[in-house]
Amino acid sequence: MVSEEKFRWVMGHFATGVTVVASRTPGGEAVGLTVNAFTSVSLDPPLVLVCLHKDAEGHDPILQAGHFGVSFLTGGQGNMALTFSQADPEDRFKDLSVKDGPLGSPLVDGALAWVDCKVMDVFPGGDHSIVVGQVEACDAGDGDPLMFFRGNLSGMGS
Ligand SMILES: Cc1cc2nc3c(=O)[nH]c(=O)nc-3n(C[C@H](O)[C@H](O)[C@H](O)COP(=O)(O)O)c2cc1C
Repeated sequence: MVSEEKFRWVMGHFATGVTVVASRTPGGEAVGLTVNAFTSVSLDPPLVLVCLHKDAEGHDPILQAGHFGVSFLTGGQGNMALTFSQADPEDRFKDLSVKDGPLGSPLVDGALAWVDCKVMDVFPGGDHSIVVGQVEACDAGDGDPLMFFRGNLSGMGS
């Protein structure tokens, strides 16, 4: 058996970008978490997937809302990645400038790019749910990505 510690260490050698995945509760409160388990799935239709820990505060609200936004963080947004993984869930959007996407998903200002998705499918994936979203709107701007490699966050370029 592969230990959790070894698996985490080995997978840390696969460099990824870093995103904030967010949605809204039925009462309209923003919920979100830092996610690097994000990838595109299909071009036609345009599909992406995110893997969300079943125990994450945002897991149930995101599935209930039926939509989620993915903000791709820039190299200068490392603090945001820490806030969205470590701060109390109810404090994560404090003092943060967000705009809602067309589906109503919170998108953080200054992100490198974003997609706003409808939840299309949810598959079991061990202690995570594999959430497939159909992209209903998306856009990108300038900047360099925040990267996650060997357990460290680092900005690329300027
Ligand atoms: C760089 C980074 C990547 C992460 N990627 C994921 C991920 O893909 N899926 C996930 O469920 N949690 C991921 N996490 C953990 C969550 O952001 C968060 O720490 C966890 O859900 C804590 O649960 P809470 O939101 O209930 O406080 C990541 C954390 C960091 C710092």
